Amino acid sequence: MTTIASRTKTRTIPLPLLPFCFIICLILHKTVADSQVGYGYTITTVNNDPTKTSLTSNLKLIKPSFVFGPDIPFLNLVASFETKDRLRVRITDSNNQRWEIPQKVIPRESSFSSLSYPFQQNPQNSKNFLLTHPNSDLIFTLHNTTPFGFTVSRKSSKDILFNTLPEDPLNPETFLVFKEQYLQLSSSLPIKRASLYGFGEHTKNSFKLQPNTSFTLWNKDVGSSNVDVNLYGSHPFYLDVRSGSSDGRVKSGTTHGVLLLNSNGMDVVYSGDRVTYKVIGGVFDLYFFAGSSPELVLEQYTELIGRPAPMPYWSFGFHQCRWGYKNVSDVQGVVTNYAKAGIPLEVMWTDIDYMDAYKDFTLDPVNFPLDKMRNFVDTLHQNGQKYVLILDPGISVNETYATYIRGLKADIYIKRNGVNYLGEVWPGKVYYPDFLNPHSQEFWSGEIKLFMDILPFDGLWLDMNELSNFITSPDIPHSNLDNPPYKINSSGIQRPINEKTVPATSLHYGNITEYDSHNLYGLLESKATNKALVDITGKRPFILSRSTFVSSGKYTAHWTGDNAATWNDLAYSIPSILNFGIFGVPMVGADICGFSGNTTEELCRRWIQLGAFYPFARDHSDKSSTRQELYLWESVASSARKVLGLRYCLLPYFYTLMYESNTKGTPIARPLFFSFPEDVTTYEINSQFLLGKGVLVSPVLQSGAVTVNAYFPSGNWFDLFNLSNSVNAESGKHVTLDAPFDHINVHVGEGNILALQGEAMTTEAARKTAFELVVVISSNGNSYGQVYLDDGEGLDIEGEKDQWTLVRFYGALNNDSVSVTSNVTNGKFALDKKWIIEKVTFLGIPKHERLNRIDMAESELSIVNGMSLIKKTVVMTKFDSSSKFVIVEVSNLSQLIGEEFKLETEIK
Ligand code: NOJ
Repeated sequence: MTTIASRTKTRTIPLPLLPFCFIICLILHKTVADSQVGYGYTITTVNNDPTKTSLTSNLKLIKPSFVFGPDIPFLNLVASFETKDRLRVRITDSNNQRWEIPQKVIPRESSFSSLSYPFQQNPQNSKNFLLTHPNSDLIFTLHNTTPFGFTVSRKSSKDILFNTLPEDPLNPETFLVFKEQYLQLSSSLPIKRASLYGFGEHTKNSFKLQPNTSFTLWNKDVGSSNVDVNLYGSHPFYLDVRSGSSDGRVKSGTTHGVLLLNSNGMDVVYSGDRVTYKVIGGVFDLYFFAGSSPELVLEQYTELIGRPAPMPYWSFGFHQCRWGYKNVSDVQGVVTNYAKAGIPLEVMWTDIDYMDAYKDFTLDPVNFPLDKMRNFVDTLHQNGQKYVLILDPGISVNETYATYIRGLKADIYIKRNGVNYLGEVWPGKVYYPDFLNPHSQEFWSGEIKLFMDILPFDGLWLDMNELSNFITSPDIPHSNLDNPPYKINSSGIQRPINEKTVPATSLHYGNITEYDSHNLYGLLESKATNKALVDITGKRPFILSRSTFVSSGKYTAHWTGDNAATWNDLAYSIPSILNFGIFGVPMVGADICGFSGNTTEELCRRWIQLGAFYPFARDHSDKSSTRQELYLWESVASSARKVLGLRYCLLPYFYTLMYESNTKGTPIARPLFFSFPEDVTTYEINSQFLLGKGVLVSPVLQSGAVTVNAYFPSGNWFDLFNLSNSVNAESGKHVTLDAPFDHINVHVGEGNILALQGEAMTTEAARKTAFELVVVISSNGNSYGQVYLDDGEGLDIEGEKDQWTLVRFYGALNNDSVSVTSNVTNGKFALDKKWIIEKVTFLGIPKHERLNRIDMAESELSIVNGMSLIKKTVVMTKFDSSSKFVIVEVSNLSQLIGEEFKLETEIK
């Protein structure tokens, strides 16, 4: 009855017109169907050999579509566990080999061959085929539906992580499409429970991906001051942090990662309830990382793509650069002024100004002549400072230029139409070295060596490697590569892929097209430069590259490119830096005080306050903007002394975080949810970040502001500038903190132990100062920290045993004492250096009656070797009960850091 009634109500078309309507509907339907991009595939066979460690299936096209070209009729799908935490799903053409990133470019090892485990057919539903592994939480399910789909879910919670089942037949975006130049795959997401992070490189105002946004991945020389458009690098990787499910099976903070290993141009469309890949080439090579914590995902991701490069100790010092330094004395003057102002300057840089007519590996004979440059660099070195210079990939086409001639002879330039492709960059006409050509390594290493022999620089800055080209060459007529059928949304307005770069029809060694390998150029240049520097110096290289791809972190640091001197760009630097952490490029920073446009005293002051805590801290500006060295305004200079002072004290901490990223892949600067995954409020935070597990940076990001509304996850937090100030958050809470013009809030959370050293004007001098431990007792009584020590430049972080020391610290609060104990791995290195801990400060000790009265007391310091006591001494200890918690300070210790000890103080 109800049905008939409602039908009667809604029928608005008069009966005699119905046949007419029917015809119109049919026509409409046909037009829609004809413009449908694809109809999906069905399963024809599934390999059920029980001895196999993977599942293989053949797929057949349901019905052809001709939008964006004809479909590939037969596909092959392989799902395999490569480790217990890494599941790979690869889908490609069954009959023809397609472009895939060569192993030589990104070596990935599948290390899981020992166990064989059969896939199972689901007993309850014979339509499904399952691939599981006894030790893995991931399950791959192949659904024998029409069209077919697959899901990746968790065994432990049944949570579906990735779901390609075409749920909505009216939404063709949900179908798998596989054509020569258009690949589409879509996964539905639980909109309320999935928080996504990643997909770069873009400048965003929010770290968490916002629904109804899309991300184009096509490396482009576009200033990072432009929001929401494809920039210099491509990272088709995301983290999915889940909030808890209502049935309680999924715990908040359960995280997995997804990589689409594909170098072709693509759009990734994120609607909130779906993520859809639209790719213009290659194959679907998907990797799922089980996590289940954010840290573990990063560990698993970098296990596949390569751990971040170790960085030299000095690279954590402060760097100064500018495009537009006029001559050697100008640059020398900057160094002198930093020294005069008492602001630590570690590294002085030169931009393209130093070159002769912008030719790589040359010096401007008038303004930057060799003798003066040598002098300048020698003086820097004598003062414990370093020098880094820029290189652009384009080699000037100039018969009198030896580098160019050697490149010609080696025949290593990118080609088009059988001849070297002619582009245009700063020097005018250029050829670009083809880093896919095995001979280019010898050429590039040779040039670097020749130049280093005359000018002993300490690091290299690789710019313009997207590849940037000042001209757009005409397309080859009717070329599907220069002008592919699907237009990715480059620059947000479907700019041609050939715009201001090397055209897609250009050829690399082995007939690899630029179309396929475009996004790899920066990675390949970084890799070749890294090898060159390792071979030449035998030391840990420092390289800074603008363009990056998956695995670039293994070779290079990154800066976020041409930002602007605006308050917005100051704020956006936080999401950008956090993104590179999750892309496996943890050594990252933004141009401090802003690159383009004129900065102001206030902005520059706030920027150095934040920038002092970027993993990579460099002030850099455009030649057309006013100067912005930190000493130029007294208020900026005094803020710089203060914040860089704290940075230099934290150098051992930064460096140990670098060690952790090199050994485990965890970022140096991290989103708050890395340490507090269960706290869903942290998922939304864009304006604060953590250094490591427990140092929280809460900057001012608005003009005129003298307070900051900061979020504190649960626990006690102590101000690192003034240890007696604390924020006590029983559960997470927002707190309005004072942030006067010269102050940034930096707190250390309970449960952490920091090993600090003293302030100094160079990292070399800072490294010679005594250590101080800050032990932040946690509510549960225990705290932890570690410090990694080596010479700061050796190639292998965990090399020969006498080359490095790792000290772990454990803090404990008992009823009547607090203590810190150390555990030393390879103590010899630190003992030889005679490094000592001079002071230990315990924070976070709750007050009680008797403790309140004590001022000075004695503590016991025991030197131990395993369980046996070597020596016991008594040390004087100061108690300060004037603030909310008692501070216990043990000074004048002279305890060797390389020797295991226990320091215990009675607090009865
Ligand atoms: C573009 C780079 O992004 C910028 O940092 C540099 O100053 C200029 N090129 C000039 O080399």
